[in-house]
Amino acid sequence: MLGLEPQSQLANLAYPMTASKADSAIALLDWYKAMGVDEVIGESEIDRFAATQAAKAAAETASPPPAQEPPKAPAARRPGFASVAPDEAVMDARERAGNAKSLQELEEALSGFDGCPLRATAKNTCFKRGSDKARVMFIGEGPGRDEDIQGVPFVGRAGKLLDKMLAAISLGEDDVYVTNIVYWRPPGNRTPTLQEVQACMPFLERQVELLDPDFLVLIGGPATQHLLATKDGIMRMRGKWRDCDIGGKTRQALPILHPAYLLRTPAAKRQAWRDLLTLKAALNKTDEAP
Ligand code: URA
Repeated sequence: MLGLEPQSQLANLAYPMTASKADSAIALLDWYKAMGVDEVIGESEIDRFAATQAAKAAAETASPPPAQEPPKAPAARRPGFASVAPDEAVMDARERAGNAKSLQELEEALSGFDGCPLRATAKNTCFKRGSDKARVMFIGEGPGRDEDIQGVPFVGRAGKLLDKMLAAISLGEDDVYVTNIVYWRPPGNRTPTLQEVQACMPFLERQVELLDPDFLVLIGGPATQHLLATKDGIMRMRGKWRDCDIGGKTRQALPILHPAYLLRTPAAKRQAWRDLLTLKAALNKTDEAP
């Protein structure tokens, strides 16, 4: 059972309850429902964020931080996957990606590319999920364990939460196109390195160019930093439309919090919800345009 303090989020919709605000409130309730909240558990609101911060501060003074889980040992390199010099890999990627005339050809071109070192330890290539006609393209950090097994981006726990977030603003599988800044799982789910991202980037750029979406959504810090060429963190970047030069033109890109972060930090769902409404508003606006 998951519970919700009464009025916790609804009270924070900081505007009078007009028809559209009522819609927002209903959509928020739908999202809570989708996430398993099934009852109201208290008379007054609890600031769990403050409680978490206090507990964290107490834990930090009481004991040293826990040792990080060591990354899993990479699987042995597969025969035939010689390491390629980074510059050569990028040139090869550019040539293969540039020759692709459709998303399907691009996926085929990627299957012949071995310039990204991540490929050697991955089980499968995760090229995309969703519709080739989508108006909105989501770009995440990199496949995890479930994605590596299935060869499809965002199908694990974080992906399931992403689906619920999208459903809350009425977006389904046919409305979105989902990929990552790298197409293979980084061992132990570590953040992909610059070299790994650069090797994949010509494919991602061509993927954006061929899909030509109206909007990009950058999921989490690494996708945001690489695609917007910024060192600023996701907390600073999120929730505002940013210019992103990719796929032959300047496109509108909205950085959002990563669903894996939201699973660890439920208090941040309020910000995630605001960012989803920002996306929804932009989609509605282009729907209304003559
Ligand atoms: N996290 C990501 O960034 N991408 C996935 O595909 C899965 C989890």
